[in-house]
Amino acid sequence: MSDITTTSGALVGVYAQPDFVLARGEGCRVWDEDGREYLDFTAGIAVNALGHASTVVAEALEAQLSTGLVHTSNLFRTRPGEELAELLVSLAFPGGVFFCNSGGEANEAAFKFARRWGGAAGKRNFLAFHGSFHGRLFGALAATDRPAYRDPFEPLMPGVRFCDVGDGEGVRAALSDGTVAAVIIEPVQGEGGVVPVRAPFLRELRRACDDSDTLLIFDEIQCGLGRTGELFAWQHAGVVPDILTLAKPLAGGLPMGAVVACERVARTLCPGDHGTTFGGGPLVAAVALAVVRHIAEPAFLSRVRTTSRHLDEVLERLASTRSAVTSVRGLGLMRGVVLDRPAGPVVARARELGLLLVSAGADVVRLVPPLTIEPAELDVGLEILADALG
Ligand SMILES: Cc1ncc(COP(=O)(O)O)c(C=O)c1O
Repeated sequence: MSDITTTSGALVGVYAQPDFVLARGEGCRVWDEDGREYLDFTAGIAVNALGHASTVVAEALEAQLSTGLVHTSNLFRTRPGEELAELLVSLAFPGGVFFCNSGGEANEAAFKFARRWGGAAGKRNFLAFHGSFHGRLFGALAATDRPAYRDPFEPLMPGVRFCDVGDGEGVRAALSDGTVAAVIIEPVQGEGGVVPVRAPFLRELRRACDDSDTLLIFDEIQCGLGRTGELFAWQHAGVVPDILTLAKPLAGGLPMGAVVACERVARTLCPGDHGTTFGGGPLVAAVALAVVRHIAEPAFLSRVRTTSRHLDEVLERLASTRSAVTSVRGLGLMRGVVLDRPAGPVVARARELGLLLVSAGADVVRLVPPLTIEPAELDVGLEILADALG
């Protein structure tokens, strides 16, 4: 790990980065300034769903740039955001959409919308889960179960309770006083170690929320938009949330988040309740419109499922030939390789061998390649990971 630095020139030292500087990308590959090639299984942390140098992204960017409108603010209507909102509600569920600029912001907005909906009836609290990650802002962090991220920044937003994933009785007890506005959960926990939440528990959550008049928020910022082989991860369980948060892959690498709120929540929102200068600007929205249309194509999702079946096979081989691998888990092209040792040195060794990986927690190597990855590229990447595991 000797190539890791925590500061680069004038940047504050909040990131630990390897020394090389990325200069170029194409598909699932990137090159550094010295021309060294890397296979990219991070995809910008599950952002570059269509890979680097995507023509879908480039063409949408160019078309919107040709209108001259990059940004107008939300003082005025523009078409791309309106069309994107219509597309998202048609794909998810009837309601309204709010656009912002990141995942953390999407969850903050979701919390505000939930309080707007339930606050007058005394519903101002939230229920989140152990192992969760919802972002670094004060509200999103309050619902995030990571002492190292939270403790230095207390006090966070008050009113968040935590339960264990799978503990239905605990959930019912936490909702029993009628003060919880919303339950928030990632259908596949990402940063917490790539842990899919079992379908029966998601269904139980839905019932517990319905019985106590509590909103159910699915944070699909990492696992949504095709990553699991379905457009939305909840489709594996057949459970529809009241609020859905999206971000990472939404605008093909440009910063964008979205909250889809069901009708009964969307109806409670009035001018001035929330806002952002940049959110849903015409440039990002035009790109997101093209990206979401592309990902939502049945043929695209079917290819993700086929590729992920191939990944099942190569992961099985890896687990059977490398004793350091204790299990593999995840869905679609969002997988965790659980190790009997810290993931950091393995990620560093793989990088030296030409494969970019990101960990998820202390002992899990996370695989979130572009959804467009070829099976042969998966084979090469998994061979490098096997070498890195010795
Ligand atoms: C599930 C989930 N929610 C929220 C976030 C926060 O998103 P952002 O980093 O864009 O604020 C992340 C980021 O990793 C995430 O994985």
